[in-house]
Amino acid sequence: MKIGVVGLGYIGSVTSVALAEAGYEVVGIDIDESKVKLLSAGETPIYEPGLKEMLVKNAKKLRFSIDYNELKDINYIFVIVPTPNKDGKIYLKYVEDAIEKIKQINKNAVVIIKSTVLPGTASNLMATTGMTIISNPEFTKEGTAIEDTLKPDRVVIGGNNKNAIEEVKKIWEFTGSPIIETTNENAEMIKYASNSFLAVKVSYINEIANLCEKVSGCDVEVIAKGMGLDKRIAPYFLKAGIGFGGSCFPKDTAAFISFAKDLNEDLSIIESAVSVNRSRISRIVNLLEDKFNGKETMTRIGVLGLAFKANTDDTRESQSIKLINKLLSIGFKVNAYDPIAKVKLENISLFSSARECIENSDAIVVATEWPEFKNLEIKGKFVIDMRRMLSLNNDSNLKVVGHYG
Ligand SMILES: NC(=O)c1ccc[n+]([C@@H]2O[C@H](COP(=O)([O-])OP(=O)(O)OC[C@H]3O[C@@H](n4cnc5c(N)ncnc54)[C@H](O)[C@@H]3O)[C@@H](O)[C@H]2O)c1
Repeated sequence: MKIGVVGLGYIGSVTSVALAEAGYEVVGIDIDESKVKLLSAGETPIYEPGLKEMLVKNAKKLRFSIDYNELKDINYIFVIVPTPNKDGKIYLKYVEDAIEKIKQINKNAVVIIKSTVLPGTASNLMATTGMTIISNPEFTKEGTAIEDTLKPDRVVIGGNNKNAIEEVKKIWEFTGSPIIETTNENAEMIKYASNSFLAVKVSYINEIANLCEKVSGCDVEVIAKGMGLDKRIAPYFLKAGIGFGGSCFPKDTAAFISFAKDLNEDLSIIESAVSVNRSRISRIVNLLEDKFNGKETMTRIGVLGLAFKANTDDTRESQSIKLINKLLSIGFKVNAYDPIAKVKLENISLFSSARECIENSDAIVVATEWPEFKNLEIKGKFVIDMRRMLSLNNDSNLKVVGHYG
């Protein structure tokens, strides 16, 4: 069976390669020629562990192009294009354009939307385009995306065309994962409700961390462990830290909140989670301002990690970048280092090793949990470890999230 994939970014490239690994022939389309060229040459446009090796291994089953005509004879086509926010609302233009282009060359194809879209989107698009659309949201995590795609916790398939649903179920049968077959709207809502729940979990433990800082004898890591062993709670997303970022949680919570507002409903728990997340940055800045009060312009803050989490080069909505921008606006000088992620930021100095960044800084913030930061020795500097990478000791210069005491 031949499968089409439109959009070859973080999720599209992984989905294409994973489907090829499962035995399918895959044709991937992107409007960005540079991505198509890279993938065709066996290089990946993103950093994702294992992706390049699997791409090369399955090269014969993969074809990449900027030409939608390549999809002419393909009956099942995934749409995995961006769904960003614009003026606080979800921006659907990329999805609409992709479906329109598919329609022009193959109006009988079944479109499978993997992009994250609000409940009602697929039904609206079916009404306007007359095409069959299946909703198949993606739950992959960057950093473990290959594994997550080959063996997801569940596969959600929504639609109103029995035949199409059966075919999409067959595509994912190789995963052996539980399949939820439902309406388009349920499938779309499951994605937002899941992501928002995880965002709430992150902010919840971060608030408990704040409290632990005020209660001597409390350590949020121990508390999270004690909570997480309860099967009803589970240990995931209970790590206090710098807060959530990335290309999903910030935009999906915002879109979900605004979707609910249009229906005169308040998602107040999710709104609080977003607000707690925002305050993570001010907490770090306040600590630095207290320490270097009046000396901001002479103080160099070294930020370790730019990616929104480890094992990805994705810096979209990274808390680290937000922190850097805030520090710069106050007048601090900023140094930074990340082993993989590259960003173009004006007025900061980028270093090619953690050690160099540390040596040239007066204070350090550990912002991303890259394994190489584990137990880094940093002596005689003010350190804020937002990822609990360093050993907790009695050094009064070391401030560890949830344990500043
Ligand atoms: N990144 C994640 O971890 C993640 C997880 C789950 C769901 N999602 C969702 O998946 C979707 C894609 O996310 P991503 O992170 O892969 O985005 P991305 O920006 O990395 O990639 C999107 C790709 O689509 C291409 N594109 C845009 N318009 C196109 C068009 N008309 N035709 C062909 N290609 C087009 C872009 O050039 C880009 O390469 C979003 O809706 C996102 O919310 C992302």
